[in-house]
Amino acid sequence: MRAERLITNIGQLVSCAGAGALHGRAMRNLEITTDAAVAIAAGRIVWCGRRADWTGAVDEELDAGGAAVVPGFVDPHTHLVWGGDRLADFEARASGVSYESILAGGGGIRHTVACTTAASERDLLSCASARAMQMVRAGSTTIEVKSGYGGDLAGESRQLQVIRALSLQVPARIAATALFHLPPSDAALRADFLHEAVTHWIPALATSRRASAVDVFIEREAFSVADANTLFRSARTAGLRLTAHADQFNTIGGTELAVGLGASSVDHLEASGKAQIEVLAASDTCATLLPGVTLHLGLPAAPGRALIDAGAAVAIGTDCNPGSSPLFSMRLALALAVRLNGLTPAEALTAATANSAAALGMLDVGRIAPGMRGDLLILQSDDWRDLPYVLGGELIARVLVAGRDLSS
Ligand code: NIG
Ligand code: FE
Repeated sequence: MRAERLITNIGQLVSCAGAGALHGRAMRNLEITTDAAVAIAAGRIVWCGRRADWTGAVDEELDAGGAAVVPGFVDPHTHLVWGGDRLADFEARASGVSYESILAGGGGIRHTVACTTAASERDLLSCASARAMQMVRAGSTTIEVKSGYGGDLAGESRQLQVIRALSLQVPARIAATALFHLPPSDAALRADFLHEAVTHWIPALATSRRASAVDVFIEREAFSVADANTLFRSARTAGLRLTAHADQFNTIGGTELAVGLGASSVDHLEASGKAQIEVLAASDTCATLLPGVTLHLGLPAAPGRALIDAGAAVAIGTDCNPGSSPLFSMRLALALAVRLNGLTPAEALTAATANSAAALGMLDVGRIAPGMRGDLLILQSDDWRDLPYVLGGELIARVLVAGRDLSS
């Protein structure tokens, strides 16, 4: 076998066992190889194992210096394209005003929609690109990016255009999702909006490949379960993947709907109870935790421990956005999931790699194994457990995307 690059002198090579999403206690099944090496050709992993067992030829060796190596993080939930800021909300919330009451008063997400609408595409792209690069430096090699601050369907299309441009500009793989975030505030326009969305806009999304998934924020202040059902059915018919923001503040049936329609992931779950945990545990839908929201909004933590104990496949995302989670680091998301959601370090690593890839319906990222993209993180530590242990600071020495070392 011939490889373009062999990463050698890996103290611990760490990746999840098995294939696809890992459910329940199987999320603890990591494979750890010591004195390891990984061979990469044409951007893909072609071999990995004990260094002593490599017999092929290589063009170039990269010495990991005895450090631990893990798969690049897959962030399955971000809202990277926004204009303006939410610093006034942050101050108001610090004085006791709630996120929901700011939203109900016409601020919050609606403020960001106004700022995003006022910004030029060029500015939106340059801000989103700088944010994405921060995420890559913190270890994200695949990043889902949602629209959702467009205000109307034309504005949403504009956001998706920016996301496409972003995907050509940043080294990470970008997955675009069309998010139905808030319905028109004028109730009279709501029926027309939904009709236009399901008859034209969603089918056109699929044919133009501007998005691979449709997300709906199902909440009292956002879309109802009935509206979400209409939107999801149109998306499913168009061949798009489904995902939902559900049970963030209230359990109004969003999780049950999304799981019943075969969503690849249901995200937030801070308010989920026994019934929602059972529905998720009995399904192939990933339960995606967003611990940055718990920290930033002071919400109850989503029941990560109970979900895993019941047998669910749990994933983790940053939910990077200006209002509920200004978090750019998947590594910190992992660290928070251990502290706030009760995951073990091994479960958190699985949730941020193999399971978050499954949440995006991706089979070729999230693991270090032959056939996978060469997305790897070389740590500054010889023990992978420093990843969820260390809070802040620098722990990632090198980020490799499709075998390319971004730091060189
Ligand atoms: O995932 N809850 C809905 N959407 C985002 C927040 C967006 C915002 O506050 O700007 C979320 O938390
Ligand atoms: Fe979100």
